[in-house]
Amino acid sequence: MTGPSGREGAARRAEELRALIARHRKLYYVDDAPEIADAEYDALERELLAIETEFPDLATEDSPTRRVGGEPAAAFETWRHRAPLLSLDNAYSEEELREWEDRLSKALDGARAGYVVEPKIDGLSISAIWRGGVLDRGVTRGDGRVGEDVTTNVRTIRSIPLRLADPIPYLEARGEVFLPRAAFEDLNRQREEAGEPPFANPRNAAAGSVRLLDPRVTASRRLDCIFYVAAVVEGREAPATHWEGLALLRGAGLRTNPRNRRCRDLEEVLRAIEELREERHALPYEIDGAVVKVDPLALQARAGGTSKFPRWAVAFKYPAEQATTRVRAIVVQVGRTGVLTPVAELDPVSLAGTTVSRATLHNEDEVRRKDVRVGDTVFLEKAGEVIPRVVSVVLPKRPQDAVPFAMPGSCPACGAAVAREEGEVASRCTGASCPSKRRETLLHFASRGGMDIQGLGEALVDQLLAGNLVRDVADLYALAPEPLAALARMGEKSAKNLLDEIEASKALPLHRVLFGLGIRQVGERAARDLAAAFESMDGIEAAPVERLQEVPEIGPKTAAAIRLFFDQPGNRALVRRLAEAGVNMRAEAAPAAGPPAESPFAGKTVVLTGTLPARSRGEAKEAIERLGGRVASSVSAKTDLVVAGEDAGSKLDRARLLGIRVIGPEEFEAALAKAGAKR
Ligand code: IVH
Repeated sequence: MTGPSGREGAARRAEELRALIARHRKLYYVDDAPEIADAEYDALERELLAIETEFPDLATEDSPTRRVGGEPAAAFETWRHRAPLLSLDNAYSEEELREWEDRLSKALDGARAGYVVEPKIDGLSISAIWRGGVLDRGVTRGDGRVGEDVTTNVRTIRSIPLRLADPIPYLEARGEVFLPRAAFEDLNRQREEAGEPPFANPRNAAAGSVRLLDPRVTASRRLDCIFYVAAVVEGREAPATHWEGLALLRGAGLRTNPRNRRCRDLEEVLRAIEELREERHALPYEIDGAVVKVDPLALQARAGGTSKFPRWAVAFKYPAEQATTRVRAIVVQVGRTGVLTPVAELDPVSLAGTTVSRATLHNEDEVRRKDVRVGDTVFLEKAGEVIPRVVSVVLPKRPQDAVPFAMPGSCPACGAAVAREEGEVASRCTGASCPSKRRETLLHFASRGGMDIQGLGEALVDQLLAGNLVRDVADLYALAPEPLAALARMGEKSAKNLLDEIEASKALPLHRVLFGLGIRQVGERAARDLAAAFESMDGIEAAPVERLQEVPEIGPKTAAAIRLFFDQPGNRALVRRLAEAGVNMRAEAAPAAGPPAESPFAGKTVVLTGTLPARSRGEAKEAIERLGGRVASSVSAKTDLVVAGEDAGSKLDRARLLGIRVIGPEEFEAALAKAGAKR
């Protein structure tokens, strides 16, 4: 598919796809009326990405595929805003709101204005600029005059169009970037499991995410954006009111808030604020108030403002909601990655629209700092944050016999030792068969750097666990074909493929198993070093800390983690079962000093298909990897080479279709021999 006709066809299809994608994203994000399923939309984006990967020159600035993949920056450039991004004065009561209107009315010489009331989302304000309808820049507020150019990160936010539905020659819109409640909760859960401090509220999380130097991380955060003002419009008739400005943004494909209300006077404003207060907890994002704005732009201009605040708008802040209740118990939960989290179980109390009966206490340090004890009466608050927070203990109400909290020494789920590493806040379970982390452990074991069992992904691991077919990684080697084939979406052929993969993994050298066990601190590099130094699993298992530390690159922290791992009887039993199943526990013969220069596989993505007469799949894979290549499971535009053995099927057809180089077993063996790969 490299000829001129292939390229022309691809260019035409790419244009078509971009138009389709633009249409469906507007239907989804702006009109809230999707016509296709999320999966179909994703398929469109993936198809475009495949074309652009094959023909990089066809990728345009506004291609939806440009949302991800930018390289991390060293720092952000600064950017001077054309019009400053002002902040808002606050009002905390009806009375203060009336005072605001009085001041406004004076500035307007008594002219009466209509208003718009909008939810005040608690996020990070940004200014986005489109030139000729193409997203040109995204900038943070900064100090209001000069902000940071965060364009690459802003591009990753799906609700911000890279191309406008209406190509306004110049548009500058301001809006709030935020993390929806659900995404915020997920992110914090992940952070706690990884032993990282959780974000205090969605605003911090959004601001932190937009200001990450690595846009790939930003892209993973599920940020959203709602625009609230058309700040500069050129080449189009300018709107006469704020409300019309919002309509213009919507017409261009920007998302605005459907909860915005147009009000004739302050009485209607007060009603709108009250309605919003009642609804606020049902919104998919946190709000900390309502913004009231003068609607006619001519009156906004006449009202003017101070250097900090405009006089034509004000933020009405809802008070933080608070409650007190009693701590019934402090339980310790074990997360997916083995992190132990203390959670306060509370007498149920109504707070901010929900009944609260639990509150996370995050970690050991946090419980100590607040000194929360069972029996204590605690003060809860829910303001910007989604999850209720234990603010403090009401000390006068503390029962006399209350004792300080202590983290358990053994895992509540499996009984293995609990360890807290130096410099970390998280306490973790060290058992490799702990039921709480089964899923993660299995996935890690099967991962590319581990046993590389292709096909054993999240969906299948979940099925295996649900069907009670495996409990730990050693069980994989006892899997029988029939129960496997009986799983949903499996069938005999996939079952056989998986069992072949599992079988092939047995031949992998020691460092792969070692890494696959998921010992804390032991990454691929450390696993290689350990395997080279000890040559066998037994050697590592028996080595005292001092001996482990003699291995270059293995520091005291890693040595201690390894020792602790093998000190757990459960972990030793697991390793023994793996060895009994036939998993290789010895290091590869001669440690390769990196791929030889003439390696035909260096930097190449290779797909293996069919049966090779001379070596098993695992051996072939290992040989290619040793020579600097990567083995992938499916043929795509990114594939460089396909090795086709006997009975090669659809992968071979696809490789031919894509014009990818295909070699047979003899040519493969010859290439390996030339590059000096031993069997
Ligand atoms: S208007 C001069 N509208 O609140 C007008 N701001 O406290 C300035 N915010 O920096 C902003 N939702 O980050 C406006 N619907 C909304 C808003 C909103 C949230 C934020 C924005 C601003 C801050 C001011």
